[in-house]
Amino acid sequence: MWHKAIVHLHTNPYLPEDRGFFVGIIFILKMGGARMTTWNLQDMQKHVLICNGSSCMRKGGEEVTQAIRKEITTRELDRYIHTSRTRCNGRCKDACVVIVYPDAVWYEGIDVDSAKELVHSHLENNQILKSKVIYERTQTGMSLKNNRVKGIEKEKQEAKKEEVL
Ligand code: FES
Repeated sequence: MWHKAIVHLHTNPYLPEDRGFFVGIIFILKMGGARMTTWNLQDMQKHVLICNGSSCMRKGGEEVTQAIRKEITTRELDRYIHTSRTRCNGRCKDACVVIVYPDAVWYEGIDVDSAKELVHSHLENNQILKSKVIYERTQTGMSLKNNRVKGIEKEKQEAKKEEVL
């Protein structure tokens, strides 16, 4: 298979000849060493974004990430649920933040126990975990729930930046 890759790269009209050879070597090294992860997402129903920014990590983000992934596997949902670690989602006061798309539900204060509950309730049975919702999509946009901190208006923040400049 990797022989084909070399031939392909050598004959690729979009790459200069010398660069094609160099890229070919990197390609072979990658195939022989660390594997590239390219998930087949055809059966994916939901994408879960797990905040791994510093505030969320201080509140157990790693444990939450592992708990969600383990629970998904235990419930045999790996084919349908994709998870990604993210950097800060701008809702640090709500750490640990977990977001589910395409439903556009933002969760706050997720710990190991609520992580398992979230998988069972929302990801497996499409029942939103109401008590942990920060934002939920409505007909007119996103709606803040559970008296959560409203946050800083983006327009005000932009104006402040311009004042400094
Ligand atoms: S670190 Fe998670 S929202 Fe900021």
